[in-house]
Amino acid sequence: MGKLILVTGGTGFIGSHTVVELQQAGFDVVIVDNLSNSKKEVVDNIEKITGVRPKFECFDLANRELTRDFFSRNKNIDAIIHFAAFKAVGESVQKPLEYYRNNLTALMNLLECMKDFNVNNFVFSSSCTVYGQPEKLPVTESTPRRPAESPYGNTKAIAEDIIRDFAFVNPQAKCIALRYFNPIGAHPSSLIGESPVGVPNNLVPYITQTAAGIRKELSVFGNDYNTPDGTPIRDYINVVDLSKAHVVAIDRLINDKNKSNYEYFNIGTGNGYSVMELVNAFMKATGVNLPYKIVGRRAGDIEKIWADTSYANNELGWKAEKSIEETLLSAWNWEKKCRGIK
Ligand code: WQD
Repeated sequence: MGKLILVTGGTGFIGSHTVVELQQAGFDVVIVDNLSNSKKEVVDNIEKITGVRPKFECFDLANRELTRDFFSRNKNIDAIIHFAAFKAVGESVQKPLEYYRNNLTALMNLLECMKDFNVNNFVFSSSCTVYGQPEKLPVTESTPRRPAESPYGNTKAIAEDIIRDFAFVNPQAKCIALRYFNPIGAHPSSLIGESPVGVPNNLVPYITQTAAGIRKELSVFGNDYNTPDGTPIRDYINVVDLSKAHVVAIDRLINDKNKSNYEYFNIGTGNGYSVMELVNAFMKATGVNLPYKIVGRRAGDIEKIWADTSYANNELGWKAEKSIEETLLSAWNWEKKCRGIK
């Protein structure tokens, strides 16, 4: 029997890929997800990839009683990876109270259960959005956090503070926040990937849906930024590379390799790509022509951000490996699989 990891949000995009990597590293997994932004068949597809069906329970972690009941029935959890949260930047601007209530209540219910049910290892899904628009690039873990551009981003910053303060008075609890840059791509099996509900907010799913003919053309939100080609720069990281970072973080905590009981790491590639560089890389990698038009800037977008990954590379012994072309091809293969395109 391997160590048992609770993965909240485990039927979601990054959660499902992380469940696969955990199982393939020998861990047992139980998923809790309320399926508000994902489908239960993801569990079937995880089983198809790994041959092992993770345990699955469907309930809302923002419900304190249900969450406590889960922990009272599952006494042998060794660690938690917490993904479950609302994550649409634009929606969070329109529905701030739902975002603060859902994202922060679920977190606090989990932390309270850690204390009351003696679970002492916690990995949190944070985001580079806590840096806002950094003055100096690349971003290191000492780069000061800046006001988030959205309530969604603010829930990540507040969550980090809650975890920090919880760890301070609960020395037995060991916590790591992983600050993701821009997760993209899909599992090479094309059995799991990113499944945005409705019109995609994020760049890569919009690109693949345009390539599949579902969207007429990609709107490039602004080419008048202070960047070489005028379009914003981001650090796009392959979702499988990102998922592997969670396995390394869990190992670090379970085997007491952590240096303090609240640590945080930038999980990116260290390379910045502009929107147009990504569009051109997609066309080159897939051979698909991508119709696009330049339009006005999107409110809330920052100009440029990419990570200095040396701390995660040296301290965690983890490094992103997959190329942007391989990653974009995996996203396209997933889109074609979903749409029945040969
Ligand atoms: C990337 C670039 C857009 C769509 C957000 C969150 C972050 C994480 C990832 C959740 C920007 C441009 C996009 C389009 C475009 N979310 N773009 N046309 O905004 O960097 O990060 O999503 O975990 O926390 O902040 O990602 O993919 O939305 O945008 O031109 O149709 O692509 O302007 O420059 P973003 P994104």
